[in-house]
Amino acid sequence: MATNRTLTMIKPNAVEKGYVGAMLEKITASGFKIVALKMTQLTLTDAQEFYAVHEGKPFYEFLCEFMSSGPIVAAILEKENAVEDFRTLVGATNPEEAAEGTLRKLYGETVSLNSVHGSDSDDNARIESSFHFSRREVFK
Ligand code: CMP
Repeated sequence: MATNRTLTMIKPNAVEKGYVGAMLEKITASGFKIVALKMTQLTLTDAQEFYAVHEGKPFYEFLCEFMSSGPIVAAILEKENAVEDFRTLVGATNPEEAAEGTLRKLYGETVSLNSVHGSDSDDNARIESSFHFSRREVFK
């Protein structure tokens, strides 16, 4: 069953560069409601668990090291067709290939430092949301 929620993380490079406010503004201006929000830092083990689906890929080790290298901002976003619409707003994995106006085009640097994560399916949105937030931290 499709849900109306997705999980995003603003990645360490974008937090470090001070893009959090601008990115959240763009996200809400695009029709997404923030129903959960936190700044946190993943341990290496956390990142390995979050990205376990990519284990064994050539970029996995760097991805996990990078994602645990500094604070991130995690949020659950609500909107009709949230997963698909947010992936459109995020843009292609490689910022160089991302469409104009997308978050990765505006704030991404490289395919690894691409500024933002968005869930790729409703099932993963649920799993990733539970990874970051307890029930008490999620609002209507
Ligand atoms: P994200 O949406 O967080 O999901 C997995 C991440 O792996 C992805 O964003 C990229 O940052 C990274 N990634 C995916 N493909 C590659 C690749 N070919 N080379 C390096 N990093 C990649």
